Amino acid sequence: MKILFLGDVVGVSGCSKLINNLFEEISKKKIDFVIVNGENAASQGVGLTKEICNDFFNCGVNVITTGNHVWDQKEIMEFIDKEERLLRPKNLFEPAPGKGFQIYNTKQGIKIGVLNLMGNVFMKKCDDVFEISKKFINEYKLKEDFDLLVVDFHGEITSEKNAIGHYFDGKATLVVGTHTHIPTNDARILKAGTAYQTDAGMCGDYDSVIGMNKENSINRFLKKNSLKHFPASGEATLCGVIVKCDVETGLATDIKSYVYGGQLNNI
Ligand SMILES: [Fe+2]
Repeated sequence: MKILFLGDVVGVSGCSKLINNLFEEISKKKIDFVIVNGENAASQGVGLTKEICNDFFNCGVNVITTGNHVWDQKEIMEFIDKEERLLRPKNLFEPAPGKGFQIYNTKQGIKIGVLNLMGNVFMKKCDDVFEISKKFINEYKLKEDFDLLVVDFHGEITSEKNAIGHYFDGKATLVVGTHTHIPTNDARILKAGTAYQTDAGMCGDYDSVIGMNKENSINRFLKKNSLKHFPASGEATLCGVIVKCDVETGLATDIKSYVYGGQLNNI
């Protein structure tokens, strides 16, 4: 069983690269389940829309995760309650629309849990991610409640992501970070069998500042006249990880970084 997890899709270039290539990549790489973080997919580079979600589902995505920008396109607040395949971070302050965890049944009858979390350091205020994780681990067990568990940890700093990875070691199939838009080179299987990479990277144009127009972004740092951030529009690279999962144990047997198209070196 192979899961493809793709990092934050950014703007039109990220969406079109995904929509135009995912079907072929699924069949070439023999992927069984696809999870994508879509929280920057709208044309403005923040939030996502109902139309984008449906485009993603129609091109082979099984589940969309999000993060701090989840509500930036207001229509999603209503849509998320009707669409079980769209998640928001579980540790948002309640009450909040939607859910942060869901179990999905694959065609092969495998139960895949997907948990969306958000970090506390340098992020929007939300409930303590370690407290929420502790509760989750007490409530749900791998191979009892689901065959596989994927955790998308949407956070800014590597130490917090690293700690969550180890905290879920042996209790999840994959823990992968999102949000920084830069892939880290540390894909590995942790001691107790959980696949891990600190950040999946983005699906967007890398000739940019984390997906945003680079000239405008530099001008903002220089405090020159500048516009609101807007996405770069060159060819996107799709970035993420491919994890081979042992359905008997719920743990991972292999993890490889996935890089396709655009500016980054392809694998
Ligand atoms: Fe984010």
